[in-house]
Amino acid sequence: MKRNRYYLLVLSIVFGLFSCKNESKNDLALNSKNSTENSSIESKVEALLKKMTLEEKVGQMNQYTGFWDVTGPTPKEGNQALKYEHLKKGLVGSMINVTGSKNVRAVQKIAVEESRLGIPLIIGFDVIHGFKTLSPIPLAESASWDMDAIELSAKVAAKEAAASGINWTFAPMVDVSRDARWGRVMEGAGEDAYLGSKIATARVHGFQGADLSSKETIAACAKHFAAYGFAESGKDYNTVDIGTSTLYNVIFPPFIAAKNAGVRTFMNSFNEINGIPATGSAFLQREILKKQWGFDGFIVSDWGSINEMVAHRQAKNGKEAAEIAANAGSDMDMESHLYVSELVNLVNEGKVKESVIDDAVRRILRVKFELGLFENPYKYCDETYEKDVVGSKEINEAVLDVAKKSIVLLKNENNVLPLKKEGQKIALIGALADDKTSPLGNWRIGAEDGTAVSVLEGMQKYKGNTLFFEKGAEFVSGETVFAKELNINVSDKSEFSKATAIAKKVDVVVMVLGEHGYQSGEGRSRSSLGLPGVQQELLEAVYKANSNIVLVLNNGRPLAVTWADEHIPAIVEAWQLGTQSGNAIAQVLYGDYNPSGKLPMTFPRSVGQVPIYYNVKSTGRPNMPAPGEVFWSHYSDITNKPLYPFGYGLSYTTFSYTDINVKNVKDNSFEISVTLTNTGNVTGKEVAQLYLKDDYASVTRPVKELKGFELVKLNPNESKTITFLLTENELGFYNNQGDFIVESGDFTVFVGGDSEAELTTKFELK
Ligand code: NOJ
Repeated sequence: MKRNRYYLLVLSIVFGLFSCKNESKNDLALNSKNSTENSSIESKVEALLKKMTLEEKVGQMNQYTGFWDVTGPTPKEGNQALKYEHLKKGLVGSMINVTGSKNVRAVQKIAVEESRLGIPLIIGFDVIHGFKTLSPIPLAESASWDMDAIELSAKVAAKEAAASGINWTFAPMVDVSRDARWGRVMEGAGEDAYLGSKIATARVHGFQGADLSSKETIAACAKHFAAYGFAESGKDYNTVDIGTSTLYNVIFPPFIAAKNAGVRTFMNSFNEINGIPATGSAFLQREILKKQWGFDGFIVSDWGSINEMVAHRQAKNGKEAAEIAANAGSDMDMESHLYVSELVNLVNEGKVKESVIDDAVRRILRVKFELGLFENPYKYCDETYEKDVVGSKEINEAVLDVAKKSIVLLKNENNVLPLKKEGQKIALIGALADDKTSPLGNWRIGAEDGTAVSVLEGMQKYKGNTLFFEKGAEFVSGETVFAKELNINVSDKSEFSKATAIAKKVDVVVMVLGEHGYQSGEGRSRSSLGLPGVQQELLEAVYKANSNIVLVLNNGRPLAVTWADEHIPAIVEAWQLGTQSGNAIAQVLYGDYNPSGKLPMTFPRSVGQVPIYYNVKSTGRPNMPAPGEVFWSHYSDITNKPLYPFGYGLSYTTFSYTDINVKNVKDNSFEISVTLTNTGNVTGKEVAQLYLKDDYASVTRPVKELKGFELVKLNPNESKTITFLLTENELGFYNNQGDFIVESGDFTVFVGGDSEAELTTKFELK
């Protein structure tokens, strides 16, 4: 069917429109300060820039990692001594991995008091889901679908990090990914661009607050620009080759949302995209981000990614890599050491214009002024305040709150859960159950090992039952260390018999199985998605002894736990929940908190289905033409269906969706209403989700896309009418030229509790 098509808005107008529409309280607060403060910041930036030599300008574009115990003796030799000399000469703009207000003060003092112009450093750190007190890993938090909780989690992380001297975090990671093999899915918001955009906004607001110069807020960084989550075969750092439609409709939206929320920095990425390393991509950095989106903060390279362009074989040597990266708009060099060594010569040789350097330096200085570093470079360096804030009650309460909200109930046959609080014998089995390090996840370089509340400790607080504990099998053999491959126990089953023995004598078995915190994250891709090591065998052995099992999963990615789904009556997805992990899990198991999490990523039945995601395209052969026929898009050995779909999650109560209606409220806007009822016996929260299908389009569109959701709390028998508004923002899409267009025609809406929602209605956009 040929349809009437019109281009509603071109790209540049769209970004203006979106930024107005999406403005929240924080954005408005930031904007109201804008005009006067911005002009004074701009004039200060210009005045300072005029005083700087070319070497000093290039110095601002140079970032070093912490290089010696700043409170100890001064380094005299080698690379460290050189870094120290650079700091004194004003040839360092930023440092990362220097933490603690005392250490930060020491490096800041050198920059401010010993260098010629005294320009303060911006101090960065990977505050990914907390600093010392940890929230759940970002993928887990995303399962809460609770933007207030996510914002609060980022806010307390910023407060704790800022109290320890940090003023810039390398978060949020807003990379959409559909591949559970990729270890870094733990750091993102999952597979969906719409949910990812909302979460990006919440996290930027949480980190930056309404006032960047407050001593409780830090600059955020949207990373990794772009397409890092689309590494071929889920292998970290691997090649990315994607089309325009995916780039614009799936990968860009959370970055746009972060930009519109006011994020002050971006990080580029390790991967090449369609033949160009992202770090050297002028298209991404200059054309899209800086020109089309009007981003006026700065872009930092990823760690050594400028130098890695040599390994990509796009640059002949480090000097050429520096030339390409600077010209492409990469403003700050994280640990390649190439800007500081090559850029002055490149400018003198005419290969990089001084205006390119000036542009980068302006951006960096602008953010430093906004942070208030020039007014008081030591404002993040108050040791007494640090002691009060780090690990405070307020921060622990906030991370416990979001940890509970992040848990997803995957299965609960015969209402095994919640557990009875008295008179029960319970066996707790699994090495992860008493692990106080793994729940911290992999990105917790500010936290200390052994500081999480374990599941064992959490459950021990419920004293009415008799609790037995056995590991069943060691998880890791040998030391557990961040930078090394984990040595997973794949053969030692000698302790199985102890586990099966306690399983036989109890009413209920709780097994905590899954991945160690160090099995996901950067550099930790996996080719299988089952329970690692001997855990599957342990599960099956215990099941033979007592099948009344509650399986608590700890993991940083979707797992293909198909056998468990077929046999185990209750399954709880508890990810890696951070410092308060065990308390959150125990409160959910005992029903003191009714779970409301929903999966932000599809769980596959088998690794062979990956990448698996809900918003697929139809293909030309979506359905089996007749029973038993082969020529349609499917596997011959497994269904196309996932194990658990995107958006899925149960509660201790039940919900029904009825009475769907659609109303054309304005020319191109439609209101969809639906009645949500709590049909069970306890109060609960439900994430009502709206999915939209553009029935026909000039560029093929997904079978459905999330375009609205609302978290609703209802008492038993209580109903609420929920309304979703669909405007041109939701009805349109980017065509293959990167233009945002809205086409007339038919649309189908689905509303329900997950991406397989079936309550449906239709409307026509004329
Ligand atoms: C490399 C990672 O890709 C990036 O996300 C991180 O922020 C930097 N290292 C700094 O630690």
